[in-house]
Amino acid sequence: MVSSTAGTGLQIADLADRPDLETAMLTMESTWPAYIRPDPILVHWIFERHARHQLVVLDENRTVVARAASAPLAWDGKVGNLPDTGWDEALRQCMSDTYAGHRLTALCALEIAVVPGHQQRNLSARTLQALKQHARDQGFGDLVAPVRPSLKHTATHLSMAGYAAQTRPDGLPQDPWLRVHVRSGGEIVKVCPASMTISGSLPQWRGWTGLPFDTSGPVDVPGALAPVIADVEQGYAVYVEPNIWVRHRL
Ligand SMILES: CC(C)(COP(=O)(O)OP(=O)(O)OC[C@H]1O[C@@H](n2cnc3c(N)ncnc32)[C@H](O)[C@@H]1OP(=O)(O)O)[C@@H](O)C(=O)NCCC(=O)NCCS
Repeated sequence: MVSSTAGTGLQIADLADRPDLETAMLTMESTWPAYIRPDPILVHWIFERHARHQLVVLDENRTVVARAASAPLAWDGKVGNLPDTGWDEALRQCMSDTYAGHRLTALCALEIAVVPGHQQRNLSARTLQALKQHARDQGFGDLVAPVRPSLKHTATHLSMAGYAAQTRPDGLPQDPWLRVHVRSGGEIVKVCPASMTISGSLPQWRGWTGLPFDTSGPVDVPGALAPVIADVEQGYAVYVEPNIWVRHRL
């Protein structure tokens, strides 16, 4: 699929039609903290096997300004069957469902990211709309997403359920990225408490964050949605990132 977004000068392409854009998509400037390290083997496999579902947004100069990565899943539509281990499990489930030959019924958004210099221009909503349209065109019944609320890192000690429940007077979520999803028709269905787990030795964590990691217990790390738990005696720390499952019926 290569399509234009009316009146915006933006063009949406997928990697099946435009494999030449894969490097630009993968190396796009982004604001992810260094310790967010998705399994490169699974990500590479999904990009190869499901290139059709990896979207790139180009501006009028044909520069990549945003991307939307996604993985198809076999999902029966039951909220209880969306995994508590959201993001990590979606990658694994995509691979096992694909190899098992199951009918892939839902598209799971893995990431929507906007190049920092192009943020705050409503590009995220347009990219989400493009992904939804793509999922509809491909015959999926739902777009689901283990959403990473963009300002949760400012409230690390608040539970994800408590954070997601905060609304503005107009009833929309306080969190900007959750708000984009809900405004575009998404339904907040449940917390996925262990969406992404990142473990590392204390020297690794020091390298990723520049923090001393010299005491055991919860450590506040910039960009993290919950405290990282360090164990100095054992020499490691673990971050378990909570996300929020959002469902878009198509
Ligand atoms: C989250 C992200 C996709 C939002 O993209 P964006 O194009 O900058 O957002 P938009 O311009 O469409 O703005 C969406 C809303 O967020 C608000 N917003 C954007 N940046 C904000 C900021 N830094 N602080 C507060 N609100 C912000 C906008 O005002 C808008 O709110 P509205 O509902 O009142 O209109 C982008 O910040 C990003 O790429 N982050 C890194 C990757 C990431 O975390 N992705 C999400 C998880 S996969």
